[in-house]
Order: sequence, then structure tokens, then C-alpha cells
Amino acid sequence: MQLENFLKTVSAQIDRKIDEVLKPFEPKLLYDAMLYYLKNGGKRIRPALVAMGAYITGGHPEDAITVGTAIEFIHNYSLIHDDLPAMDNDDIRRGKPTCHKVFGEDIAILAGDALLTYAFQILSQKELFKNVDAEKLLKISNLIARKAGTEGMVKGQVMDVKKIGDLEEVAKHKTAALISASLVAGAMLGNPSEKELSLLSDIGEKLGIIFQIVDDILDKEGYYSEFGEEGAKEIANTFASMAIQQIRALNKPEKTQILEQLVYFLLNRTH
Ligand code: IPE
Ligand code: IPE
Ligand code: MG
Ligand code: MG
Repeated sequence: MQLENFLKTVSAQIDRKIDEVLKPFEPKLLYDAMLYYLKNGGKRIRPALVAMGAYITGGHPEDAITVGTAIEFIHNYSLIHDDLPAMDNDDIRRGKPTCHKVFGEDIAILAGDALLTYAFQILSQKELFKNVDAEKLLKISNLIARKAGTEGMVKGQVMDVKKIGDLEEVAKHKTAALISASLVAGAMLGNPSEKELSLLSDIGEKLGIIFQIVDDILDKEGYYSEFGEEGAKEIANTFASMAIQQIRALNKPEKTQILEQLVYFLLNRTH
């Protein structure tokens, strides 16, 4: 399987699942604001990682899409809030006006709130899942809550805006925590060993750091500002070799070659 097709398939499945779990409701303004980023050109890297985790440990592929959808709700809420005037004050995301530019700050804040809440509405709705028991769902929800919140992304955003910690510490929290949690949550849908879960968590963290370094190079900030383009690329390459080593240590080459492809995709992406 080629990564490009894998990403395309996951993207189409996520688009369908979003429509299945979130039907139009009143006020339409809130529905539209929630969908504005959610259905507008995201790369769907996190759901792809959920799908890969499930593929590696034998989880049900459709359950991976449902968990991946919940994580996309959280990711897109984080982007809406990250773009707000009080945060990064950005006017453009993915080549289009930011959510608050289109809907106003009030509705953008509330759409973010609604997306975050809805993620856990999805994760706690047992009928949406084919082959996971309630206990497993509870564990997966707890992991995602921790890694999106005070142990992960929100903590990292605070470190970023208040300049607490070095670049690696910030990247680990604001970006890598949710990326790693995606791979691990996917793996939890199947029957992983403890060793596999711990390796996948480490691999996911490295993928997340690579992701942030490349993001900084593309945006000419963070790692780019501190180390220059070549220096930042070198650091990303070092994390990539470590990730590849750990992927090989999983010892399931036929199941993990797509994850290896993703390492190179993240290193070489241009948007
Ligand atoms: C951007 O994430 C925000 C960071 C964590 C650096 P993505 O690049 O994955 O966002 P999409 O693809 O636009 O959804
Ligand atoms: C965003 O980080 C990370 C989030 C948790 C939303 P950045 O502020 O560096 O990402 P972009 O460049 O706006 O996507
Ligand atoms: Mg930011
Ligand atoms: Mg930003």
C-alpha cells in the first residue's frame, strides 16, 4: 500500500464520518463555524496515524475512523483558538480567511468549545463503534483528554505563548502529544502488547517533533529561527532515524512499512 493512497482513503472516510456524526442543526451559524476548518483542506495526519495504529495491532478499521474523527474535532478546535487575536492573531489558514475573520471572535471561540466537547460526545457514544468494549473506550478517551489538555497540547500552547521551556519541550507538548496519542489510541483498538504501546508512543512523539520542526521551517519561525534551515533539517533527520529504528524494533515489517513512509512524507512535506 502506498502512503498517498492511504491518506486519500482516510481523508474520504473522515469526511463521510463527520457528516454521519454531526448532522446540520440550529443555529446554523454554529454548525457552519464548526465545519469551516473541519471540512476545509486539512491533511488528516492524525486520523491516518489512528488508522495505522489500528492496522498494526488488528483494530477494526472503521473504529479507527471514528476515533480519528473525534481527534480531528479536537485538532480543528485547537487551530481555531490558536489563530485568535489573543493567540497568534492570524488572518489566513490553509490559504483562506481564519475562522474568526469569517464568523467573528465570539462565534469562533464558541465553535472551538463545541468541537472540543463534541469529540468526547463521539468517543462516549458506544453505538458508533463496531468492535470496542466500553472499558477500552474509556481508556482511549482518557488518553486523548490528557494528551489534548493539561499534559499535552494545551500545556504546550501555554508554554509557547509564555515562552516557558526549550523548543523541544514545547514541541513535545503542543504538537507531539496529540500526534503520539493518535497512533497509540489507534493501537489500543486492537490487541497490542505493553512493549508495542510504549514503542508506538515513542515513535509518535518523534513524528510529532519532526512535524513541528518542518512546520517551523515552512513558517520560518521556531526551530528555523534558532538553527537556520540546514540546522533544523539536520535535527529533523536525527529524529527521523530514531523513529525508523523504533519502527523496525516493532518487528512487523509488513504492517509498518506505511509508517516508515510517513516518516519521509513528514520530512519532505511542503505544506
Ligand atoms: C498544524 O497542524 C498545527 C500544528 C500542530 C503545527 P496540521 O498541519 O496537521 O494541520 P492541517 O493539516 O491543516 O489540519
Ligand atoms: C499550533 O502551533 C499548535 C496547536 C496546538 C494548534 P502553531 O501556531 O505553530 O501552528 P500554525 O503554524 O498556526 O499551524
Ligand atoms: Mg501557535
Ligand atoms: Mg499558529
